[in-house]
This record gives sequence, structure tokens and C-alpha cells, in this order.
Amino acid sequence: MNFSTFKSANKLVTGQTALQYLSQAVELFKIQKPLIVTDQGVVKSGTINHVLDLLQVEYSVYDTVKAEPEIEQVQDCIHVFKQNGNDAVIGVGGGSALDIAKCVAALVGQSGSVQDFLGTDKIRQRDIRLIVIPTTAGTGSEVTNIAILSDTANQMKQGMVSDFLLPDVAIVSPLMSVSCPASVTAASGVDALVHAVEAYISVNRSDITDALALDAIRLIAENLPKAYALPDHLEAREKMATASLMAGLAFGNAGVGAVHALAYPLGGKYKMAHGVSNALMLPYVLKWNVMGCAERFTRIAQAMNIETGADHNSNAARVIEWLHDFCRKLNIPSGLRAFGIAETDIPALAMEAIKVERLLKNNPRRLTVQDIEAIYQEAY
Ligand SMILES: NC(=O)c1ccc[n+]([C@@H]2O[C@H](COP(=O)([O-])OP(=O)(O)OC[C@H]3O[C@@H](n4cnc5c(N)ncnc54)[C@H](O)[C@@H]3O)[C@@H](O)[C@H]2O)c1
Ligand SMILES: [Fe+2]
Repeated sequence: MNFSTFKSANKLVTGQTALQYLSQAVELFKIQKPLIVTDQGVVKSGTINHVLDLLQVEYSVYDTVKAEPEIEQVQDCIHVFKQNGNDAVIGVGGGSALDIAKCVAALVGQSGSVQDFLGTDKIRQRDIRLIVIPTTAGTGSEVTNIAILSDTANQMKQGMVSDFLLPDVAIVSPLMSVSCPASVTAASGVDALVHAVEAYISVNRSDITDALALDAIRLIAENLPKAYALPDHLEAREKMATASLMAGLAFGNAGVGAVHALAYPLGGKYKMAHGVSNALMLPYVLKWNVMGCAERFTRIAQAMNIETGADHNSNAARVIEWLHDFCRKLNIPSGLRAFGIAETDIPALAMEAIKVERLLKNNPRRLTVQDIEAIYQEAY
């Protein structure tokens, strides 16, 4: 393939007063009774009120989205939408709430079960409007055509990929993430970093995704420690919100690779938070990937403000050391052992990870099941 495409939410609204745009969007789309899809963390912190206070139409709230949500949650939320007679979806939350909001908006007009639409390009159309407001920085879900659902029966994470999951409007305000618990700031921030790094070394990268990925890496390296140390540092929150959006645009188009593929079974089987499982696998997978794209690591190092020399391999080694240190400072536990995973589970984890061909095919180095086992072993 010698062309690349670029997709995004239709309109991106950013900045400290971005939320003001919500009433305009509601009016523009003639929305009369939206369903606000959110979760208990966003409600209990009071952050949801930033949104509810702006709504001048009747609305309903579905506030029971679970972290790393299951497939069944989509069906439940669709049922509530129909019962209330809602006419649009406004997702407010981290990746979990946004992914449910995206699925509900796209599937509410379709017949069939949610399972029928898992995989790539199974959805034919979206009948209603979809606005999303992220509260973590983050998954980038506000601009991707992907939703990730937990498949409890198979102990796996499943992806739904369709351009009909792309929102009409993404409103990205730093005010929404100020209430994030420190552990969520850290894990979701590292997830955004993984998105940017994996997009930058993806075999499907383009000049457009490269520019977004590199600058996202720079912004995260500079601002995630500040947002973690000082939760109400609005400038750091704003930079992180923008970085997460840019990383979302980068990976939404270039794809993520083996870090995510190896993190999925950890989320599916051990219910590890998405950002934590990615942080855990990141340095170990990257070490394997250097061979496929050493020169790219020099640019990554520069974006991280690491001193570089002429040798790409030693620059790559510095990036990997830097990542270990970065995650340690953010108090993200390292090592599979710390999560109570038995070493004897590694072969089964590798068998699950090798199935994630959707992502492994983007990776700069082809991995066999034996390679994957070795990586888990190193990360143990
Ligand atoms: N669609 C995509 O492109 C994409 C990309 C990456 C990850 N994901 C998915 O996103 C999910 C993870 O999302 P996440 O990391 O944003 O976390 P999350 O949405 O699961 O939220 C984590 C916790 O933080 C709380 N929280 C979130 N924002 C808050 C706020 N402002 N104040 C107080 N509490 C808050 C939530 O209530 C929850 O308890 C996973 O299911 C993952 O698979 C999707
Ligand atoms: Fe991710």
C-alpha cells in the first residue's frame, strides 16, 4: 500500500474553556434528550457537573460504566437509551466510559448482538449524534475509531473497529482531568506515551502520524510528572490533554503494536488496568523492537530530552532506561510477579498474545510465540 489515510473525530475543541462549546453543539445538532454515559468516579468527584451545568435540554444519565468494561455493558446501556427515549449520546469519562458511549451510539440503530460487531468494519452506519468529553489523559479514545471491550467468557480484550465509532465532536478540556486520582493520572498518562511511541515505530506510520507522535512524546515527558505531582496544575493538565489527543490521532491512524498486544491478556485475565499493563510491558517489548528500527529511537530520545550520541543502539538503550525510571517515579509497580501472576501462566499468556494479529502486524519486528514468552519472562 503506498498511500495512507487519516481519520479523526469530526471536530476537535481544545483549551481551558472548551466545554463552553457543548451548548453550541447540542443546539447545532438539534439534540433534545441526550444520554450522558459516564461512571462513578466522574460523578462522585463532581467533575460531571462541569458538563451537566451546561446542558439546557432535558437529559438522562447512565453512570454505571465499569473500568475496563465488558461487552454486556453495551447492551445494558442501549436498553437504557431506548427506555428513556434518548436521541444522542454524550460520553464523559476515561477510555472506559468513552468506549461504551461510542459503541452505544453506533449500535443503537442496528439489529443483532454486540458480539456481531466485534472486529473490523462490521458496522454499517451510525444514526445518532455522538459527543465525547475525556476525563483522563489518556486513551485518545475521543479521536479513535476503536472501542475496547472485555470478553469475560474468553478472558480477553476485544476490539471493535469502525469509522462509525468516530465522534462528531471531541471536547478536550483540562478541567475534566483535575480530579483524577494520582494512580489514574500516572497509568493513563503512560498509556498515552505508549500510543505515541508505538505509533512512531509502527510499520503503518506516516509523516503526519510521526509529527503528532513525536510532539506527544515531548509533551508527556515534560508534563506528566508535573500533573502527577500537582493534580491541579492546569497548564500541565492541558498539555497532557493535548498530548493524549495527539497520541490518539497518531495511533488511531498508524496503529499500536506488540506492547498493546502483550498487555491485552494481562487486562483480560488478571483485570489489570490498561495503562498499568502497558507500562509494565513497554520497556521489555521496546528492547526487542530496537533491532527493527534503531534510528527511530534516536528521535524518541531527543523528544524525551535525553542526551544522544551517534550510535542509535546506545540511544535506544538510554530510552529504555529512561522509561524504567519514568514509570518508577510515577509509582507504577513493575514486574508481572508484583501482580500475583504465576510464572507457569506465561505460556498461556503468550498463546493469547499471539492471537492479537490486528496489532502485532503493525510492530516493527515480527514476533513468534517463543519470542513473546521470552519477553513475558523478562518482564516477570
Ligand atoms: N478506544 C481507544 O482508542 C482506547 C485506547 C486505549 C485504551 N482504551 C480503553 O480505555 C479503558 C481505560 O481508560 P482510562 O485509562 O481512561 O481509565 P478508565 O476510564 O477505566 O478510568 C479509570 C478510573 O478512573 C476514574 N476516573 C476517570 N476520570 C476521572 C476523573 N476526572 N476524576 C475522578 N475519577 C476519574 C474512573 O471512575 C475509573 O475508576 C480500557 O478499557 C482500555 O482498554 C481505549
Ligand atoms: Fe492504550
